[in-house]
Amino acid sequence: MRVSVVGATGAVGQRLLEILEARAFPIRSLRLFASDRSDGKFISFSGRSIRCEVLTPGCFFESDLVFFDASDAVSEKWAPQAAAAGAWVVDNSAAFRLDVDIPLIVPEVNGGILIERIKRGVSALSPRERIIAGPNCSTVQLVVALAPLRDHWGLRRVVVSTYQSTSGAGSAAMSELQSQTAAVLEGREIASQLFPHSIAFNCIPQIGSFKDDGTTSEEQKIMQESRKILGIPDLRISATAVRVPTLVSHGESVNVECEKVFSIEAVRKVYQNLMGLVLQDQPEDKIYPMGFPGAKSTVEGASGRDAVYLGRLRLDTSVESGLNFWIVADNLRKGAALNAIQIGEMLVQAIG
Ligand SMILES: NC(=O)c1ccc[n+]([C@@H]2O[C@H](COP(=O)([O-])OP(=O)(O)OC[C@H]3O[C@@H](n4cnc5c(N)ncnc54)[C@H](OP(=O)(O)O)[C@@H]3O)[C@@H](O)[C@H]2O)c1
Repeated sequence: MRVSVVGATGAVGQRLLEILEARAFPIRSLRLFASDRSDGKFISFSGRSIRCEVLTPGCFFESDLVFFDASDAVSEKWAPQAAAAGAWVVDNSAAFRLDVDIPLIVPEVNGGILIERIKRGVSALSPRERIIAGPNCSTVQLVVALAPLRDHWGLRRVVVSTYQSTSGAGSAAMSELQSQTAAVLEGREIASQLFPHSIAFNCIPQIGSFKDDGTTSEEQKIMQESRKILGIPDLRISATAVRVPTLVSHGESVNVECEKVFSIEAVRKVYQNLMGLVLQDQPEDKIYPMGFPGAKSTVEGASGRDAVYLGRLRLDTSVESGLNFWIVADNLRKGAALNAIQIGEMLVQAIG
């Protein structure tokens, strides 16, 4: 594939390049794009140094596959141009996620939709139909955990509270956490630029902007995208999104009410045999999912790894068929870059 990456210098873009290299994605040529701030900067990939470019009309004419990891505005403007030039587009922004004619894909959950589309043949597809969206990072890990419950026992209601790391807001947001933390420890004044309040030593119950109904744009994304990916347009789901002072990996406390009665052993068995999910649930040994348990910990952390980790699995006896669990995943990998590459691998397999 002739591959292009837009947003190659960002938190997701950098992770995408690492994973493309590590998984030996079949790349014939690679072009890297970012803003004019990065024009001419060299980025190493597979032992080569590749010069970062700015987007210009016609720049996608020699691309088969373009990963977009910049902003909604960049995707809105440039993704249709890439598709019109004949490329497949895998877009990680929110620009197209809820469009009815654009598939929103988490391969383990609804990859079949993409296979159906590819089977129609590239020539039968309009440029717009070659755009594939990747979900919000919090949505990805949630639907990986919910899909098997939907399949076995049906979903009646879902309540999710997120604990989202600063990298979910990009690489500059990680720097803000680090510089604010140092400032607080050194007794200096702190300034908040990207977050509405200080993120050092604080949790902020606001991600995105507030809507008229009191929810935030992030909470809306989690609810609407989950409904679309799970194929349940009227799923009763309620989300609260909170930013926490960590660098990488999002945690989510999930409460589910199922349609049918189940045993906790049956749920455990399903999760033990699920692709892309690791059941990490031995509370008696203090083993449960975490992002970064510390260099000396024997517990495997989710940060830098591919899977969604699930633990603290227990019945919620306040309702008839209730379940509580805790999930953690690396938001930059499964929540964004890895998911996009898995979509790219499906394309390679189907049309390569
Ligand atoms: N972070 C996550 O966990 C996550 C998860 C799922 C989806 N996403 C989505 O992935 C995208 C990237 O997020 P991120 O966290 O990686 O953000 P980021 O760290 O802020 O990186 C943004 C990237 O976009 C580039 N860019 C900015 N303006 C541009 C322009 N006009 N033309 C071309 N490139 C431009 C930046 O280049 P410069 O370095 O030159 O400024 C940088 O490479 C966003 O749409 C985000 O919503 C992120």
